[in-house]
Amino acid sequence: MTQHDVERTALRGRMVGRVDAAQAGTTVRLTGWVHRRRDLGGLLFVDLRDRSGLLQVSFGPDWTEADSLAVAQKLGAEDVVLVEGNVELRPEGARNPELATGDVELKAVRLERLSKARTPAIPVYRAPEDELPAEELRLRHRVLDLRRPELQRALALRHALVLATRNYMDGLGFMEVETPILTKPTPEGARDYLVPSRVHKGEFYALPQSPQIYKQILMVAGYDRYFQIARCFRDEDLRADRQPEFTQIDVEASFVAPDDILGWMEGLMARLADVAGYTAPLPFPRLTWAEAMERYGSDRPDLRFGLEIRDWTEVTSDVDSGILSGAVAAGGRVRGILLEGGARLSRKEIDELDAEAKAAGTPGLLWGKRTDEGVSGPLGRFLSDGHVERMGLAVGDLVIMAAGPDRVTSAGLSAARDAAARLLAVPRTTEHAWAWVTEFPVFEEHEGVLSPGHHPFVMPHPDDLHLLDTDPVRMRGQAYDMVYNGSELGSGSIRVHEPGLQRKILRVLGLSDEEIDFKFGFLLEALAAGAPPHGGIALGMDRIVQRFVGAGSLRDVIAFPKTTAARALFEGAPTPLKDHDLADLGIRIAGRRESS
Ligand code: AMO
Repeated sequence: MTQHDVERTALRGRMVGRVDAAQAGTTVRLTGWVHRRRDLGGLLFVDLRDRSGLLQVSFGPDWTEADSLAVAQKLGAEDVVLVEGNVELRPEGARNPELATGDVELKAVRLERLSKARTPAIPVYRAPEDELPAEELRLRHRVLDLRRPELQRALALRHALVLATRNYMDGLGFMEVETPILTKPTPEGARDYLVPSRVHKGEFYALPQSPQIYKQILMVAGYDRYFQIARCFRDEDLRADRQPEFTQIDVEASFVAPDDILGWMEGLMARLADVAGYTAPLPFPRLTWAEAMERYGSDRPDLRFGLEIRDWTEVTSDVDSGILSGAVAAGGRVRGILLEGGARLSRKEIDELDAEAKAAGTPGLLWGKRTDEGVSGPLGRFLSDGHVERMGLAVGDLVIMAAGPDRVTSAGLSAARDAAARLLAVPRTTEHAWAWVTEFPVFEEHEGVLSPGHHPFVMPHPDDLHLLDTDPVRMRGQAYDMVYNGSELGSGSIRVHEPGLQRKILRVLGLSDEEIDFKFGFLLEALAAGAPPHGGIALGMDRIVQRFVGAGSLRDVIAFPKTTAARALFEGAPTPLKDHDLADLGIRIAGRRESS
């Protein structure tokens, strides 16, 4: 069966974009939308469009039936038509190399309008110089926006990537299993979307933040290798790379070590990159979390460029600055970045670096610019020739510095690093920098309260298990993230498969045994049923597509996305409910007056 046989239907012979010079001299029957209509007084040109492309159709009294010509004259943008006619080669000078169908045109004999479209609220046809309508308008009129070739290409690539993922995972013996959407809270660090139970008033399902617990239970049940293209729901503050509802490539396998998972996922990314027309160089470099924080100040460093953070505590130990010595006396360090050629940054641009650091939570940056006249800027009066030499600060360079505990300086230096790379247009060593960051801490501490570094099921590093009772914050986990160009594409770990250890970790997180049994009893019970050592990962499907199509936002790779205010503008959701609908669920809105 050829492509054309597949695409042929009762109404149409072939798709619009597949008409080319090979059909010249034949009759074809096409269907599609009126993309653009030009009336040259008696002669009419219509660009006909479907998902496969565009084709020029011409109407004229010499070759179009009179009734059809009359219909053509009344066609409006986005009307749906059926047209029959003869494919003809365009004269040499009239060919359009921009269009796949540009060597031919269809001389329409018969036209039928299948649907009339009301005047589009946003134009589907745009001249090259026309800007996109505002995003809010596009989201409200998504049916029209989805006709845009960029969105159609993004969704077609998404489909191809999902298909390639299924084939690849299947090839490795992974089996896709669907896990519930109406479930119990799964802790992934966000709030849950809750669904009230009508039958059991006052009780709620949670939509899954991930299939985490179910996939672990599937391992205990002996499924050995699981994957799922899984929908996840998280009620959290939205950003360009977060949606309340998103899709993961969710993976879990038994009897594995991190190397197994990392190797499989590298293979998957190479396959997906190939589908998208890129090359993913294997293997991905690996760095531990501690190294990533030390060298880049971030657990998802952008490795397309260098600009590593350096420790200048030693070099600056004799600098007569209260800021530096005070920070070091309090147990902190002096760290900074040497920006080669950075002296060309204006004062305003340096202030921008400082503002980025502050926005990331670092009180501020010290800086010094070396020119022929010496070092200027706040560090100018502190840095002697000896310092300048030991730091390697050459004429034309800029140095930025932060002093304090690492947890305060890292984020600021990382943000300033990204901004400096942009402002200085630092040459990239690659356009696609994948990496693994491994050995994430099991716990995080904030104001004396412990929370999971990722989720509470991460297996500690065997060398650190003894720290659980004494110094849990220092425990490294067998956890890893896949990083790409400065963003997190995926995250996973080897899991705790021993119920006693799992309970202990939950206790260290401050949960009482009662809470543990209430929230995680079903997991602990499953783990007691004979659990294999297991581990896995989840990659963000939307983020992968976004990176591959170079879209600015996840909204450009999801057919019906939510706004940053977590609204669905097209469908109009969420919606208020009437009191009597809520009463069925045993719910009353606080502060709302009873209506009759
Ligand atoms: P995590 O919470 O890190 O791990 O999620 C895995 C990946 O899912 C993507 N992601 C998102 N994408 C779009 N919008 C969001 N709101 C969003 N949140 C997360 C990211 C992220 O790297 N159960 C664990 C995985 C595991 O341990 O196996 C989990 O969900 O690309």
